[in-house]
Amino acid sequence: MAKPKVLATRPLFPAAQEILNAFCDVEYWTKPERISKEELFKKVKDKEGLVCLLTEKVNAELLSAAPKLRIAANVAVGFDNIDVAACTKRGVAAANTPGVLDETTADFAWTLMMAVGRRLVEGDTLARSGNWTGWDLDQLVGADIWGKTLGIVGFGRIGKAMARRAIGFQMKVIYADAVQAPDAVEKELKAEYRGMNSLLAESDFISLHVPLLPETRGLFDGSRFSKMKPTAYLINTSRGAVIDEAALVHALESGKIAGAGLDVFENEPFIIPGLKRPNVVLAPHIASASIETRTKMACMAAENVVAMLKGKQPPNILNPEVLKAK
Ligand code: DGY
Repeated sequence: MAKPKVLATRPLFPAAQEILNAFCDVEYWTKPERISKEELFKKVKDKEGLVCLLTEKVNAELLSAAPKLRIAANVAVGFDNIDVAACTKRGVAAANTPGVLDETTADFAWTLMMAVGRRLVEGDTLARSGNWTGWDLDQLVGADIWGKTLGIVGFGRIGKAMARRAIGFQMKVIYADAVQAPDAVEKELKAEYRGMNSLLAESDFISLHVPLLPETRGLFDGSRFSKMKPTAYLINTSRGAVIDEAALVHALESGKIAGAGLDVFENEPFIIPGLKRPNVVLAPHIASASIETRTKMACMAAENVVAMLKGKQPPNILNPEVLKAK
């Protein structure tokens, strides 16, 4: 029997390719440049499954070019690149990769917080420059992390992983979310619920862990920055568009906040020049990029595709109603 046809928009890790190849006839986009929209539309035409990245848009236009498509599996937990409603309308399952990247992403948000607070990148630059004249009392003095107040915006799995790390640093943890966590969770994580304005006013470090939704787009704008402490730092490993970047540049320039650690940007891979300043640590969207985690993410996406094409429920389906409709 012919295997179902699948397109993967880039080669996956061997473990993930094994899962896919065992059941599907997979075409991998192997060119060094990312697949263009035209090539994607051409290649997806005869495919029943698609393994895609967060850089590819799965919207009504793509779905019209893919009449046989049954599943689009994102290799990412965030799925703002997928129009789930459009998929549902076309009877196409959409899937993501929740759970496997929480600790790795929290590790990296923590890395950014430490790096910007303790001026690691500036220190590295000086140490390599040949201009270091030796130890000095106030050289590259930064901010303590331990003992400070960490404000977590979005208290889902990654936000909670941040809170767990904060315990070891003797930090006070406060969080804002649409819903307050149960008592037992707050006790275990030593976290206190706050309204957004209180969180902004009290935090020394604020770390963002919300998905990009219409209501979180531009959540951190000029008015939020003006409520932060001038000594506070903002960390973002969620999605760039959660921050109004022009307002962030203004807040940094005018000393409304002390610095930022950013892994995500509104128009990746473009980074607005105003963010390229010494008190901002920049990273190219790599918070989940450990070999272990990226392999797990790719395997999960492969498993989602195989399940769907075997007629089973994909473990991480975002729109299970498409299965009921069949
Ligand atoms: C995601 O999964 O949404 C991250 O941004 C990439 O790992």
